[in-house]
Amino acid sequence: MSDTTASPSLDALIARRFSRRDLMRGAGAAALAVGLAPAMAAEPSAFDFPELAATVDEHLHVADGYEAQVLLRWGDALFPDLPAFDPTAQTPEAQEKRFGYTNDFVGFIPVEGDPNRGLLVVNHEYTNAELMFPGLGASDRKGVIAALSAEQVAIEMAAHGGSVVEIERKDGRWAPVIGSELTRRITARTPMAITGPAAGHPRLVTAADPEGRRVEGMINNCSGGVTPWGTWLSGEENIHYYFRGALPEGHPEAGNAKTMGMGSPQYGWGRFHERFDLGKTPNEPNRFGWVVEIDPFDPNSTPRKRTALGRFKHEGAAGITAGDGRYVVYLGDDERFQHVYRFVSAGRVGATRADNSNLLDSGTLSVARFEEDGTGRWLALTHGAGGLDAANGFASQADVLIETRRAAKLLGGTPMDRPEDIEANPKTGRVYVMLTNNTKRTPEQTDAANPRAANAFGHVIEITPDGADHTAETFRWEVLVRCGDPAKPDVKASFSALTSGDGWFGMPDNCVFDGSGRLWIATDGNNRRATGRADGIWAVETEGPRRGTSKHFLQVPVGAEMCGPCFAPDDRTFFVAVQHPGEPDEEGGLGRYEKPSTRWPDFSADMPPRPSVVAVTRKGGGRIA
Ligand code: FEO
Ligand code: CA
Ligand code: CA
Repeated sequence: MSDTTASPSLDALIARRFSRRDLMRGAGAAALAVGLAPAMAAEPSAFDFPELAATVDEHLHVADGYEAQVLLRWGDALFPDLPAFDPTAQTPEAQEKRFGYTNDFVGFIPVEGDPNRGLLVVNHEYTNAELMFPGLGASDRKGVIAALSAEQVAIEMAAHGGSVVEIERKDGRWAPVIGSELTRRITARTPMAITGPAAGHPRLVTAADPEGRRVEGMINNCSGGVTPWGTWLSGEENIHYYFRGALPEGHPEAGNAKTMGMGSPQYGWGRFHERFDLGKTPNEPNRFGWVVEIDPFDPNSTPRKRTALGRFKHEGAAGITAGDGRYVVYLGDDERFQHVYRFVSAGRVGATRADNSNLLDSGTLSVARFEEDGTGRWLALTHGAGGLDAANGFASQADVLIETRRAAKLLGGTPMDRPEDIEANPKTGRVYVMLTNNTKRTPEQTDAANPRAANAFGHVIEITPDGADHTAETFRWEVLVRCGDPAKPDVKASFSALTSGDGWFGMPDNCVFDGSGRLWIATDGNNRRATGRADGIWAVETEGPRRGTSKHFLQVPVGAEMCGPCFAPDDRTFFVAVQHPGEPDEEGGLGRYEKPSTRWPDFSADMPPRPSVVAVTRKGGGRIA
């Protein structure tokens, strides 16, 4: 399902791009690095927490001096007068009032400027039926899909989407405000509007929606962003898993469906809902794969799928206001050989939420091209330019947006090693791109921005916009760190020599900057076999002589992925999302409700593991780390 369009890729060019800084950090230059270490060590670390040991076990661990409080678990009641969660008595109606599954993105939106109140907005990316429901008795995905009942599928749909939860801090501890009028569950059934240039296009029309402007629900919402006007952006990622069947023979969407990876369903929804059956509703996939904007301050508001930001497997949607007031959103398409994007609004950010209600409906979407010499360029995906025209099957801007991937390849965007979160450091203006891994990249396909073949551990790229302008067409870039174990020369990792044996990581996925502009990275894919450590949070220095030094702060239970890192505005609470604990089991097989690899966080024999949001604070109070 991965495309392999070639961009310039020659080892010789990599060597030219290999900066002195890279050499200092490169495993091949260990002797040089050791010589430099004393001077580097003299510079104080930006992070003062004692480093956590990197291991794998059933528990959540955080650095000494910090504590982790489980704040919201899958199944927790979000509305008043609900009984305690009983996983053997689930119903779709109850799940619509309870915290959803696989919490991914977490955003904190202050309420009325009160430091002790806020809205947590949380994505519920997907479901693991085999860990949610007792007695499925299936040992593989196909078996699970076949075993699920219509009601269980309805529960899965209700556990997808997102949650808006008001939280309140009392005596240093956060708790959800049950009964808050702002509480909201969004699911795979919530009515949503489709807005922007592709809204109403015939390719979005279905029998259920003759106008092509209304869609039921959002699915596989991975990461996201929070805007300065107080809305929540949520990226629909692996939408192809939900569609079964095949398009009718010779259907015009065949190429589009293939590019998006249709044909490998991981869910049984299409058994009960025709819209998730390609043979019956061929246009339905075009109504997913967008960035959704949600106003959390109005629980009755209609979420809007903003088509101007393109359609692909959206990871996140973190933004920053440019110097001239336009809003800039950086976007990753999380699949091997896909691209890094940027959206720049046509209008400027206004003073109120209402002023910005249509801001994300017009603007310019561009794809990044990383040149071998450390420069780069944003290539605008604008209909009529650069071959994005009828001759290539793009009759309008709507076509360009519906098939963003094909347009990006046509323009010559650089195929990357799985672009995940992309965040701008508000203090320096530099932009950081998490690239998880790409074991399919061949030596011939390497280039300066994706320098390792069979890249198992990923890397982080730093982009510096030219003129410190997030709307500029050009930028400079370099690799901040190539991930993996620096002690293994063949891995070619490039953490600074000050990084300890616990301090390195693989598979960067989500990231966040704290109020001082320090970078914190969350990982997806570390495990006993891959790196001998669990996923978690690492703090990474980006400035000064210690640049490229990484330090381990938090570790998740076995099978879990680390998501959602988010600081409260006062930096005294660090919210993290523990996603899918217990998946897969220790042998790499399907997790099981009856015999999970961990029962975190309850550790009760009658409760399966539960994805949860955790609030990390410093013992005795104070700023994190
Ligand atoms: Fe949902 Fe890219 O991870
Ligand atoms: Ca991710
Ligand atoms: Ca992830």
